[in-house]
Amino acid sequence: MEMAGVVDPPWPPLSKGGNFAAARLVFPLPGGIPPPLAYGQLRLASRYLLSPLAGYTNLPFRRIVRELGGVGLATTDLVNARGLLRGNERSLQLIETCAEDSPFAVQIFGSDASEMREAAQLLEARGVDSIDINMGCPVERITKGGAGASLMCSPSQTVDLVRQVVDAVRVPVTVKMRLGWDERTITAPRFAREFEQAGVAAVAIHGRTREQGFRGTVDRDGIRRVVEVVERIPVIGNGDVLNVADAARMLAETGCRGVSIGRGALANPWIFRQLVEWEQIGTWEPAGTFDDRLELLRRQFAYLEELRGAELAIVIFRKMGHWYLKSMRICAALRHRFQLAKTKPELEAALAAIAAAGPARGRRDGVRQDFHVPGPAGPVERW
Ligand SMILES: Cc1cc2nc3c(=O)[nH]c(=O)nc-3n(C[C@H](O)[C@H](O)[C@H](O)COP(=O)(O)O)c2cc1C
Repeated sequence: MEMAGVVDPPWPPLSKGGNFAAARLVFPLPGGIPPPLAYGQLRLASRYLLSPLAGYTNLPFRRIVRELGGVGLATTDLVNARGLLRGNERSLQLIETCAEDSPFAVQIFGSDASEMREAAQLLEARGVDSIDINMGCPVERITKGGAGASLMCSPSQTVDLVRQVVDAVRVPVTVKMRLGWDERTITAPRFAREFEQAGVAAVAIHGRTREQGFRGTVDRDGIRRVVEVVERIPVIGNGDVLNVADAARMLAETGCRGVSIGRGALANPWIFRQLVEWEQIGTWEPAGTFDDRLELLRRQFAYLEELRGAELAIVIFRKMGHWYLKSMRICAALRHRFQLAKTKPELEAALAAIAAAGPARGRRDGVRQDFHVPGPAGPVERW
């Protein structure tokens, strides 16, 4: 494996210190480490990107994954372009950011080219580093208005929409899409080529079709076919990357230049830092223990509380808390107590009980390897 040289990672060691994984220089990349990732003029510190996860990739979560290290770029949840233009409170909350949340991309969705163009201009004026166009969302609420994955069904209008957005701003514009609408219409390669000609700085490909939803496995050959047709722009591989081995496989089998990670980051927010350590020194520290996760939960909640006040933060945080507590193997009764908390003292009491009880199974200082956040189940039409 071509090594980038041994460097000191720019983030502090984990609180528990030492205990580097035994694995050394495993998962070599046959072609060596790809060149650094850039979106046009925007050079990214790593090729490992936080994928948008509606309801989760808000400012507090982006802050904590960035603090753990290794994130090249973090993107907001999908934001309605029309909502932004109307100054809708929810849309404006989704684009909240801070100095530490950098570089920062906003993902917009919509089907009207002029709205998408104006929303991109509004975002550029607010200092956003990059704009991502959602072309992958399979949820009917989004696709029935012609946005999200359904943009993949009207090629010429979609290429025109993307070109209009690119031409309207100076910041790099990217597109995140699926392989196609269904297995009979695998259009990602064709779109990627046309988007490149339209001036898009990168494309991210979730290696499933819209019809698949989250079923089956990611089609890395499908992603490779996109890599093969573009001339210069980076392709970002996405889907089912849960650990270093998965990312290595994504890079090796597709030839992609970057990897975007969604659910894997919810399960293991240390994943970005582990990937950079793997790339730079061939070995990586394990993910956090029970107590590291509890500390992270508290810190993320504190960031949310700063933004929304305790009462609202408690309600909003329940969804995120669910995955934290699952990853920490908290018994059902204590998870329930956490979810019932309505006030800060109730929340603190629930967390104190959780801290005292420790994990229901496994060691408190152990690292949970097998944790996975499932995607929404069932036919996409019913999500
Ligand atoms: C709960 C949830 C919300 C998501 N929200 C978005 C979104 O807002 N925009 C988007 O492009 N993709 C969204 N996705 C798709 C992810 O970004 C990603 O493409 C997909 O989950 C596959 O990657 P993963 O296996 O690393 O999670 C979402 C996925 C999930 C599970």
